[in-house]
Amino acid sequence: MPEYKLVSKNYEFPDQRLLKAALYRGGYEQWKRVIKEKTSPQAIIDEVKTAKLRGQGGAGFPAGVKWGFVPKDSPKPKYLCVNADEGEPGTFKDRTILEKDPHLLLEGIAIACYAVGIHTAFIYMRGEFYEPQAIVQQAIDDAKKEGLLGKNILGSGFDLDVIIHMGAGAYICGEETALLNSLEGLKGWPRLKPPFPAVIGAFACPTVVNNVETISCVPHIMRMGGEAFQQVGTEKDGGTKLFAVSGFVEKPGVYEMPLGTSLKELIYDVCGGVKDGKQLKGVIPGGSSSPILKPDEIDVPLEFEAMAEAGTMLGSGAVIVLDETVSIPQIFMVMSRFYAHESCGQCTPCREGCTWIYKISEKILAGDGKPEDLDTILSLAPMMNGTTVCPLGAAMAIPVMAMVEKYRDDFLALMKN
Ligand SMILES: Cc1cc2nc3c(=O)[nH]c(=O)nc-3n(C[C@H](O)[C@H](O)[C@H](O)COP(=O)(O)O)c2cc1C
Repeated sequence: MPEYKLVSKNYEFPDQRLLKAALYRGGYEQWKRVIKEKTSPQAIIDEVKTAKLRGQGGAGFPAGVKWGFVPKDSPKPKYLCVNADEGEPGTFKDRTILEKDPHLLLEGIAIACYAVGIHTAFIYMRGEFYEPQAIVQQAIDDAKKEGLLGKNILGSGFDLDVIIHMGAGAYICGEETALLNSLEGLKGWPRLKPPFPAVIGAFACPTVVNNVETISCVPHIMRMGGEAFQQVGTEKDGGTKLFAVSGFVEKPGVYEMPLGTSLKELIYDVCGGVKDGKQLKGVIPGGSSSPILKPDEIDVPLEFEAMAEAGTMLGSGAVIVLDETVSIPQIFMVMSRFYAHESCGQCTPCREGCTWIYKISEKILAGDGKPEDLDTILSLAPMMNGTTVCPLGAAMAIPVMAMVEKYRDDFLALMKN
């Protein structure tokens, strides 16, 4: 299946980040149409539901359904928080939207806010995104000058402020409720759910949290119609997805594919296969939180349900290709070190579990491991799943179990007795 470019349609034009160029290529046309035709907010939500647009930040929750949860009669202000934290190891797709087509994101933000009755949108960006911040801020300023954002947009009486908030570089702040705490100036600790942010979110007000890519699909849904958008993908997962492919592959990069494309096709046909003709050792298909697949498991459609059936996750669409030279125990150690470092410490199973597993992985790599250590990992990891406020602990536990179960011999080979 070839690439199908919607969100990345204008990536090839280096001037696309400029308002003039974006307008020339049809930017803000859907936003102008919504304003001019006074489209009903509910009609937009319905279109997004028909499109079967799923959250592209990892969990895959249907976007239109989430928007529908926001109470219509709340006397409080409502907020949109665009999640531009992009902290999942292996993921580098949202950055391309921010840098290459910021006006697409802003048009999506405007339509989403109009649909839900929101007048303030935050873009929560990871602390290291200096360049994307400058590019998006310029885009906001230019769109405001053109009357596409700000007060009384295009004479409609609709106001919308878009504010960039920079994080301080913590993986946990990508989790939506930790993000909200961080936005409020509090420690980036996740909150218990329910209540969900759509009901009680930022500053105790109803808040939609959506990923950058999710929101950037909205102008395309409005242009194509929800049904046509859905049909690009599968019955339950409409449209396309950006895949950030990295590791030992001939042509790493960001590729936009229809949802439902086979992972094998993406690696071999689109990305040119394993680098230098080497053998494939495994694929981490959806960022570091997704369980690894062995070479005979990769002929699987890239959609939320099929990936779950295959025992893994579509996640954020970060495909990490590992060749025969890669040491799985080494990957295991690097990953567990990351999670041990990034666990916020709020919940004991995650704080202690991540650290224990990291310590065991170091012991194994140093040649001091014993087969019983693998059993300790397999008995400890399940206790981190479902016992914490947020899924960070599970995001480590489930993939490490898959590595130990599928590549046990690689671990045993490092043990002297
Ligand atoms: C530890 C952790 C880190 C996360 N990091 C991100 C992130 O960097 N970007 C993102 O969009 N979602 C991230 N998520 C998912 C968010 O909690 C949330 O589901 C998402 O932003 C909702 O947007 P969506 O429905 O459009 O995907 C993370 C979740 C967890 C548990």
